[in-house]
Amino acid sequence: MTASTPQRGEMRYEGKAKRVYATPEPGEYIVEYKDEATAFNAQKRGGWQGKGATNNAITAHLYPVLEAAGVPTHFVRKLSDTEQLVKAVTIVPVEVIVRNVAAGSFSKRLGIEEGTPLDHPIVEYCYKSDALGDPLINTDTALSLGWATEPQLLRIRELALKIRGVLVPYFLARGVKLIDFKLEFGTLPDGTVVLADEISPDTCRFWDAETNEKMDKDRFRRDLGGIEDAYAEMLRRVTAPAAEGRDPRAES
Ligand SMILES: Nc1ncnc2c1ncn2[C@@H]1O[C@H](COP(=O)(O)OP(=O)(O)OP(=O)(O)O)[C@@H](O)[C@H]1O
Ligand SMILES: [Mg+2]
Repeated sequence: MTASTPQRGEMRYEGKAKRVYATPEPGEYIVEYKDEATAFNAQKRGGWQGKGATNNAITAHLYPVLEAAGVPTHFVRKLSDTEQLVKAVTIVPVEVIVRNVAAGSFSKRLGIEEGTPLDHPIVEYCYKSDALGDPLINTDTALSLGWATEPQLLRIRELALKIRGVLVPYFLARGVKLIDFKLEFGTLPDGTVVLADEISPDTCRFWDAETNEKMDKDRFRRDLGGIEDAYAEMLRRVTAPAAEGRDPRAES
C-alpha cells in the first residue's frame, strides 16, 4: 500500500536548514530540507543545489535504522527528495552533543588536540537559543529553568548513548569514524521522549576511517572545499551495505 502525500498546510517554523509545515493531521508535520548552509550561528552563509535532498535522504535512511534498534523517533516516512513526514513534537530546548573523539568547540574550550580519542563518551548539553548562540549548560540548569524534567533528562541521556551505540559501528562498517554528533529530542502528547530533527553531515562530524579526511560541515566552516562531494559521498556510504570483513570492534 502506498500512503498518499499529505498536503502542506501553513508554515510553522523556518530555520536555517529546514522549514516545518502543518498538515491536515494535527499530530504530523512536513519537514522540508533547504539547500542553505550556515555556520557560526548564521554569520557564515552558503549552500548548493541538492544539499537539502542529500540531508533528507541521509536522515530518512538513518531514522529507520535507529527505530529498528529500539530508539523511538519522530520519523514517519520520506515524502519527496526534500520532504519528510514526521510526528509533531514539543522540542525540548536542550541540544545534546555526544563526543567520541575531541574536536570543534570541545578541543578549543579545553585545549585538547583535535582527533584525541576520548576514553569515555561525553554527553554535553546546550540551551537551544540562537540569540545566545546555544550556550553550554548542564542538566541542573535545564531542570532548574524548567526546560526538561529529571525523568526526561535521564531518558535523553540513555537514548543519546543508545544512538551512539548504533551509529558508531554502523558508520565504521562503511568506512567512517563518527567523531561527534548533535541530537534534538521532543515529547509526544502522551509524554514519550522521541528523537527529532535530523542526523546528517550538518549535525555530525564524520572522518574517513582510513585517511581522517573530513566529510561533514567542517569543510564549509573551515573553507576546505569539496563540500558537495563530501556530502554526496556520505549519502553513498550511509546507504551502502556494511563492508564485508570489516569488523568495527577491531577498529574503534
Ligand atoms: N518533529 C518535530 N516537531 C516540531 N519541531 C521540530 C520537529 N523536528 C524538528 N523540529 C524543529 O524544526 C526546526 C528545524 O529547522 P532548522 O533545523 O532549520 O532550525 P535551525 O536553524 O537549526 O534553528 P533551531 O534548531 O535553533 O531552531 C528546529 O527548530 C527543530 O527543533
Ligand atoms: Mg537545526
